[in-house]
Amino acid sequence: MRKKLAAGNWKMNGLSASLTELETLKTAHPAPSVEVLICPPSTLITSAVVTAADHPLQIGGQDCHANEAGAHTGDISAAMIKDAGASYVLTGHSERRTDHNESDATIRAKTRAAHEAGLTAVVCIGETLEEREAANTLQIIAGQLAASLPDILAAENTVIAYEPVWAIGTGKVPTTNQIGEVHDFIRTKLEQRYGEGVGRSIRILYGGSVKASNADEIFAVSNVDGALVGGASLKASDFGPIVTALENA
Ligand code: PGA
Repeated sequence: MRKKLAAGNWKMNGLSASLTELETLKTAHPAPSVEVLICPPSTLITSAVVTAADHPLQIGGQDCHANEAGAHTGDISAAMIKDAGASYVLTGHSERRTDHNESDATIRAKTRAAHEAGLTAVVCIGETLEEREAANTLQIIAGQLAASLPDILAAENTVIAYEPVWAIGTGKVPTTNQIGEVHDFIRTKLEQRYGEGVGRSIRILYGGSVKASNADEIFAVSNVDGALVGGASLKASDFGPIVTALENA
């Protein structure tokens, strides 16, 4: 059984005052039946961990460097994120791929670093609108999966997030058939590469303009084990109903 995961990515949003959103989320969901994860900016990880201490709420980073330490001004390592008390880290988010030119090989190295530090990596993949319109979606997904994932991993330390680039922050969402097609394809690829046991146990999240109003239908799609939520994770009043929808799925 795959434990469902509602993950929030705050991106470059959030000051200390935003931690009250975590308090509100905790109060609204004192004992969630799904896993709940918030990835705040790195400046808030430590205080978010403290805020979440008496609750199953998990805290994650949004990116890590592939090296454990060294002369990389401005970067943080997976070991640092773990040391700050987080349990997850995102790797390969499309904004990292675009804004920082991250290649699949870089993302694979970061994912490996996350595993070595004892973090669960949420590895993000997804096609652009151009790639979808050219009917290349599955080919792109296969390529990203092959090159962004390390050869050795476990179902416990790896989550895949399928996020079509054109759906992120746009309010545009693929049809449930389109989501299902990609999620089933990812599942098959994972089973082929890592064996049925591991491949069947890795969670696959959908991400891109998830909100309370579309969560029910997205969570009903086969092989959708939760969501990675950007904009609608910033406020507990938006994210809480998504958690509830996942609990009821
Ligand atoms: P969005 O972002 O929910 O704001 O579309 C999703 C993401 O980038 O993870």
